[in-house]
Amino acid sequence: MNLRHVIESQQFTVPLLLELFDRTRRMEAVVARGGTKDYERRIMATLFYRSSTRTRFSFEAAMHRLGGQVLSTENGNEFSSAVKGESLEDTIRILGNYADVIVLRHTEEGGAHRASLVSPVPVINAGEGEGGQHPTQALLDLYTIHRECKTLNGLSVALIGALDVGRTARSLAYLLSKFERVKFWFIAPPEMQVKPDILAYLDKYRVQYELLSDPAKVLPTVDVVYQTRIDRERLQRRDIDLSVYNIDANVLRALKPNAVIMHPLPRSVEIDPAVDADPRAVYFRQARNGLFVRMALLSILFDRE
Ligand code: CP
Repeated sequence: MNLRHVIESQQFTVPLLLELFDRTRRMEAVVARGGTKDYERRIMATLFYRSSTRTRFSFEAAMHRLGGQVLSTENGNEFSSAVKGESLEDTIRILGNYADVIVLRHTEEGGAHRASLVSPVPVINAGEGEGGQHPTQALLDLYTIHRECKTLNGLSVALIGALDVGRTARSLAYLLSKFERVKFWFIAPPEMQVKPDILAYLDKYRVQYELLSDPAKVLPTVDVVYQTRIDRERLQRRDIDLSVYNIDANVLRALKPNAVIMHPLPRSVEIDPAVDADPRAVYFRQARNGLFVRMALLSILFDRE
């Protein structure tokens, strides 16, 4: 299949995901021996118009571990010629002369697609807009589920948080729906529920789901809890008790013994730090997997040119 640019989760087929995960396992071994020089002639540009810790650093670490070089700006709005009014399209055309791949975090939904239309080199969407997608986060999330649950079929998955704008949850829902007998529980305050585009996609592919505002009854039944932030400032009603969406010692007691607790991070109050020591809390391993998955993805893009 054509994987010139990585813009949205829907691009990935199950065979491609399994190829990516095979390669990701090999990248774990590559990192364990310090890296490789296989891609030493390659240059990656990271162009971020919004803040990032995990995505930018793990992409840059991935490129270094592959033996390549990195060009970077961590605040494109301040440190690129966007300040002088240069368009995203012109910036991409210019960077495409200097780098073999461009990793872009843009402020607007559709920014990565716009970039891909003019870029002479592959563009990777590193998260965009409010309610856009973050496909490489979904890839590392799916890889983590695959590693921790030993399967991607037949899983019951609770996605919790501000699901209308949660690009990581949105991208993960698209990816997981490619597997058999997956059931989603979308758990959010009603005004932050998942948007119709995801539900239409799930309906089209006959994927089971339910929308809930109270997680209490469902959490004891699920295999995966995918927790995300809820931005209180966005809520119209100030009386709503957001603590019902938090993971704490009480929730731990209710969860299945082999459930996994995930979070794309950064977290705020929605996961109590006391949860970190529980073996079901996998969010720091999940973040580490981002390095391996992004190495595998970059290598696939370079090898397919
Ligand atoms: N998960 C994630 O995208 O984190 P950053 O915003 O720190 O990159």
